[in-house]
Amino acid sequence: MTRLAVLTSGGDAPGMNAAIRAVTRTAIAAGYEVIGYLHGYTGLIAGEFRPLGAREVGGVMHLGGTMLGTTRCETLRSASGLEQACRSLRDARVEALVVIGGNGSQTGAHELSRQGVPLIGVASTIDNDLYGADVTIGATSAVDVALQAIDRLRVTAASMQRAFLVEVMGRACGYLALVAGIAGGAEAIVVPENPSEPAEVAEELRAAYARGKSHAIAVVAEGAPFAADALMAYFGTHRQRLGFELRLTKLGHVQRGGAPGAFDRMLGTTLGAAAVEALVAKRYGVLIGLRDGQPAHTPLAEVAGRSRPADSALIALAHTLAR
Ligand code: F6P
Repeated sequence: MTRLAVLTSGGDAPGMNAAIRAVTRTAIAAGYEVIGYLHGYTGLIAGEFRPLGAREVGGVMHLGGTMLGTTRCETLRSASGLEQACRSLRDARVEALVVIGGNGSQTGAHELSRQGVPLIGVASTIDNDLYGADVTIGATSAVDVALQAIDRLRVTAASMQRAFLVEVMGRACGYLALVAGIAGGAEAIVVPENPSEPAEVAEELRAAYARGKSHAIAVVAEGAPFAADALMAYFGTHRQRLGFELRLTKLGHVQRGGAPGAFDRMLGTTLGAAAVEALVAKRYGVLIGLRDGQPAHTPLAEVAGRSRPADSALIALAHTLAR
């Protein structure tokens, strides 16, 4: 029986379990035997895996994180690491590999694919910065977590007429900040794709009070040139002149550990199933990502080392709306 392996790599993302479940069950239905490597590429290199049957992937759909574990694996970046990974696949008689993960993981997948490993990538990262996918597994659930936090901060901010700064994840991409900021009605949104100086952010918040608002909320992406710490330092120095103080909440990994919403459960399921379809059709070396509402194939060669910035039209809209 043809043996297929699946692994999750890089930062965990809500919906990865749905993808593992879909890969496993659709592959079994197509006549494959399935194994799951533990702890991403680290487990692949070490030959750590476990058999996955339909029952082993039951009861995981609603859980965040990944049932297989994951790591950021530096070893795979070296020639010897790649060689060990290929040897491990040969030793375990694996004929095809599915890699569920984001940017760094798909770059690693491309390297493995160049070594001749029949491989399919599945687009998954809360950052939503992957070339070849309009929206990646985990991004919308992470936005929902950030949004809940913003909604709660607004309640206390309005009660006490305070200004809050909320720092969200996203690495060099402003998607999480932008979408959580727009949906949360933030008065200022700071993203790496359109960096603001601290003085501009201060002015946007001051102007919100001047327009009669009872509170002011700024959402800042961790990857912005002036992120939370720089903004807090500026506000500390100019406290008297500005006339209001700023309180900081860094959401950090809280955003990653939430349960997947319906969208991510469906996205993980759809992309996982599409990955197996691609394997059956022997369309190797591609990333499966949602484009224009459908699972689409993008060559890993185009995806590797590349990223996708937040939508510029949405950035412009955010400025118009923050009134
Ligand atoms: O790529 C997902 C992500 O959560 C980024 O938003 C964040 O910058 C990074 O991972 C944090 O990585 P780690 O969990 O390794 O600290």
